[in-house]
Amino acid sequence: MADHTGLFVTFEGGEGAGKSTQIRRLADRLRRAGHDVLLTREPGGSPGAEAVRHVLLSGAAEAYGTRMEAILFAAARNDHVEEVIRPALKTGAIVLCDRFIDSSRVYQGATGNLDPDLIEALQRIAIDGVLPDCTIILDLPAEKGLERARRRGGDAAPDRFEREEVETHETRREAYLAIAENDPSRCRVIDAERSEDEIAEEIAAIIEPMAKISAATTVDAAR
Ligand code: TYD
Repeated sequence: MADHTGLFVTFEGGEGAGKSTQIRRLADRLRRAGHDVLLTREPGGSPGAEAVRHVLLSGAAEAYGTRMEAILFAAARNDHVEEVIRPALKTGAIVLCDRFIDSSRVYQGATGNLDPDLIEALQRIAIDGVLPDCTIILDLPAEKGLERARRRGGDAAPDRFEREEVETHETRREAYLAIAENDPSRCRVIDAERSEDEIAEEIAAIIEPMAKISAATTVDAAR
């Protein structure tokens, strides 16, 4: 377990894997069971990070290169961690975050061709020890995810990262699977091709027992 009370769970995956729906369902379920839940997302989640989100997703930073983008993602993450995530974990809350460090490893590292050492150095500074207790990776073939994302977006223009080719999205899928293989105690890969209900049940079966342990630990720590 990481060095904090509370429970820190991140959700990862490619476009259209159903992260937002599943994270909302899990938050509702944990709240109904009486837990204090903070639902947040990256890039963003704090006022400073939301300002940087706009710069990144509009594509305004694209012209300056992947390195610049990676540093901006890390800057936003550091603000989010220090202003929102770490304080919430200190109170014993369950923090559910839509995307976190693995998105940088995958998007800026695997498909941005940045040196993994640079990515890891940025992550160390960005999170300063606040590592997820569990990371749910929603796994879906790239083609299917893009189809879903397009349908969901309707006539809205795709964002800077959605515009890329299927091949790029498939590379990301493989990069996520490699992260999970290298860190099996933190990561859980979920088959996202099944029904929304089945996926929600599988995620709840992983997180609910962790939430119970965390609640018990928080009570002990407060004594
Ligand atoms: P968003 O609109 O939040 O969509 P979703 O999470 O549903 O895909 O878009 C966030 C985009 O930012 C997404 O395409 C992935 C990208 N991203 C990175 O490239 N690196 C990062 O570190 C993070 C957090 C996100």
